[in-house]
Amino acid sequence: MTELKTIERRDFIKKSLVTAGIFLCSSSLATLLDSCSSTATDPGLSTVTYDVSTNADLQVDGGVGKPIITNFNSGKPVMILRITSTSYIAFSASCPHEGFVLDAPDPANGILNIVCGKHSSEYNAATGAVIKQPTSGTTKALVKFNTSYDSATHLLTISK
Ligand code: FES
Repeated sequence: MTELKTIERRDFIKKSLVTAGIFLCSSSLATLLDSCSSTATDPGLSTVTYDVSTNADLQVDGGVGKPIITNFNSGKPVMILRITSTSYIAFSASCPHEGFVLDAPDPANGILNIVCGKHSSEYNAATGAVIKQPTSGTTKALVKFNTSYDSATHLLTISK
């Protein structure tokens, strides 16, 4: 009788440890898989090239384009401002306040700043600094990217 209880206890402990091991492994595996999964907010590449000759809005000085560049800026548009034929500025076109797509400056109509139509914030078109806070809450400066232009290939290199 004593021997039978010892075996049952041993089997119980063994089965409990196996069950706990499976639970711990599956829990760890789930955590590991979650950390490897791609999400919609994946920021993508840190450097990309963009052929400005393909964008009709960037063919004159003062032109502004807002292309979505594959695998860059979390899939949100990039606001590219052409200063001269060889000089460009690039910002994330996503408003830092709540992510609304920003409006380009429109000097012909007296709009010199980058403006958000959602809550009326305004940003400096050269630096991205906040000029006017939104109607509710606060915002911060635009994400400004580094740029370099190759006039031989018309490729604008944009990097974080
Ligand atoms: S989303 Fe741009 S000011 Fe609110």
